[in-house]
Amino acid sequence: MSGTQSRPKVFVTRRVPERVLAELEAMFELTIHDAEQPLTRRELLAGVSGQDGVLAMLSDAIDDELLTAAGEQLRIVANYAVGYNNIDVEACSRHGVLVSNTPDVLTTTTAELALTLMLDVARRVTEGDRMLRARRPWIWTPTFMLGATLRGRLLGIVGLGRIGKEVARLAEAFGMQVVYTRRSGPDAEVPWEFLTFDELVARADVITIHCPLTPETHHLFDADTLRAMKHDAYLVNTARGPVVDEAALADALLAGEIAGAALDVFEREPEVHERLLECENVVLAPHLGSATDETRDAMGMLCVSALNAVLLDDRVPENALNPTAARIVA
Ligand code: DGY
Repeated sequence: MSGTQSRPKVFVTRRVPERVLAELEAMFELTIHDAEQPLTRRELLAGVSGQDGVLAMLSDAIDDELLTAAGEQLRIVANYAVGYNNIDVEACSRHGVLVSNTPDVLTTTTAELALTLMLDVARRVTEGDRMLRARRPWIWTPTFMLGATLRGRLLGIVGLGRIGKEVARLAEAFGMQVVYTRRSGPDAEVPWEFLTFDELVARADVITIHCPLTPETHHLFDADTLRAMKHDAYLVNTARGPVVDEAALADALLAGEIAGAALDVFEREPEVHERLLECENVVLAPHLGSATDETRDAMGMLCVSALNAVLLDDRVPENALNPTAARIVA
């Protein structure tokens, strides 16, 4: 903890990069949970009490209970993520609390990870790595460990936001043909073909998920959807874990209903469904979508600038999710 009483109080719920920490310390009376492990709910509720701003992580549930525990002086919750399914934005608006997220700065990094996972699962890189580390015998043979070439395959993008579009561009560089689906229908600005969700699921060779987690997208990929995919298709998820029913996915993979899957996100992070761990044809990454030095710094600096805007300049930041909720005069 550092700072003086006259500065706005900010609570940071997890360790942040040094550069971000230095900025926060220079501006605010800071309390930080300087650890990799999350706070318990009880610690979180106690930590936010009496704070003017909260810098929250994607695993912190920001809801009525927390907003009440924080107290009426709370003015902003800056989420260290672009996805904000952990935040009840309506409740924040009711409490006059502004919410910000971190768009744009992680688009390329997350799209690159989606491509990494796609290539990995299609070319069986991690599976081969496991085999070598297990010291299993092997020799180059024309039929050994064959995967799928991406060139010429149909990539189905579910959710054509910033990240979905960037994935489409990168995939085109690999010679993939791109189609997409999204709730709001075709986007006249993009060159790719729009398909309904069912058409995309039935036709795509690789499906990559980039939609937000909402009540409508929860378990969008359930047993029926997975069964409707092509038997030689791959599923990639870098969005949010609960968009895929993990138990149904494990069944589909173990039964050979689809060729493989690559997941960066999980239903109950940090847990991974036990049966997924048994599947050879799944690549598992520990939520690394935005995990590069420069991107995590940039995300942190966006949070800092949102906190500064509200708490020091009485201004609504550009990355506010509920701009009209702000109590700009404290
Ligand atoms: C986000 O920002 O929503 C990402 O999941 C973090 O990597």
